[in-house]
Amino acid sequence: MSKLLEPYDFCGIKLKNKFIRSATSENLAKSRLPSEQLLNRYEELARGEIGLIITSAMRPDRTWARGPQQKNMVIEHDDSIPAFRELTDRIHSFGSKVAVQFGSFFVYNNEPVAPSAVPYSWIPGVSPRALTVEEIGEIVKIYGAAGERAKKSGFDAVEIHAAHGYPLSRFLSPLFNQRTDEYGGSPENRARILIDIAAEIRERAGNNFPVFVKMGVVDFCEGGLTIEDGVEVAKALSQNGISAIEISAGTPGPEMNALGATDGSKWTEGYLIDYAAAIKTNVEIPIILVGGLRDVNMMEDIVAQGKADLVAMSRPFIIEPQLIKRWMEGDREPSHCISCNGCMDLYMDGEIVECIIE
Ligand SMILES: Cc1cc2nc3c(=O)[nH]c(=O)nc-3n(C[C@H](O)[C@H](O)[C@H](O)COP(=O)(O)O)c2cc1C
Repeated sequence: MSKLLEPYDFCGIKLKNKFIRSATSENLAKSRLPSEQLLNRYEELARGEIGLIITSAMRPDRTWARGPQQKNMVIEHDDSIPAFRELTDRIHSFGSKVAVQFGSFFVYNNEPVAPSAVPYSWIPGVSPRALTVEEIGEIVKIYGAAGERAKKSGFDAVEIHAAHGYPLSRFLSPLFNQRTDEYGGSPENRARILIDIAAEIRERAGNNFPVFVKMGVVDFCEGGLTIEDGVEVAKALSQNGISAIEISAGTPGPEMNALGATDGSKWTEGYLIDYAAAIKTNVEIPIILVGGLRDVNMMEDIVAQGKADLVAMSRPFIIEPQLIKRWMEGDREPSHCISCNGCMDLYMDGEIVECIIE
């Protein structure tokens, strides 16, 4: 485990090891701010020796978010900074670093919007309208303002959620982005909204503030983003100010999605390894791999073989927040997570996210 436990300079942030908690929604916010229960959850993760904790997806602003979303954190006013400062202070007191994840399902004045008017197959009846260039500019500003508040709240970095079929990942995909302006077409144009958001955040929060992307590198559906095209998009991101990429994949619906094969019988450990390796050989920035990682020996090999620089997990930390500590103490048995996705079902039902097999 030596390689994974070595400190790592992640875009200027000193991580105590190479383990990352991938963003995991918990449905635990109170009036859109961290509740005591939520603070305790993050504190427990930090006590578990995780190098970098990425928060659940947070809306940068309520204007562009779906529904009332009371149970998700929203970093929309300067008034909320002290509440988020409490969150980052608690995490930092245990030596972990914390990145805020920004992501939203674009709904404007109750109207779903997206890069192009391609229906959401996973939300029956939802046909979004294409965003105007002015609206894209507005979204970029909103993310920039939220980035400044994140910096003032003590977050070490921002991760932009551009995976799993949400609007920002739709921009990257030739299937869902059919624009003919500067935000569609070539890989660089499809990546442009993320590049603009990162630039705006840096403009407001400072040049040294890392902004990285959770990128859906392949859509797993007919006509969608292929890994070859995903490599080109990743190159555009890496050459235009994005600090690092967390590799994820999939849109809801098809046989494979971010949680692995939707048919449980086809479960494979580390199902995105080859995609991470394909991106890693083509870009200079740090690559984080997430997706079905359960065995620390396998994670060691991934990093030793140069397929990724860092490893991230979500479901294993729901069943066992202190997993890394256990491994550090010498018990190297793999995570006990069986990927039943009961935690995801709770999330989708608006319930508090927890492990159902404990
Ligand atoms: C309950 C639950 C909530 C999640 N919430 C988020 C989220 O807010 N943002 C995000 O990017 N991914 C989210 N994910 C996806 C995970 O970050 C991760 O990409 C996926 O679960 C695969 O990793 P794993 O096999 O280690 O769980 C969530 C996953 C689960 C199970």
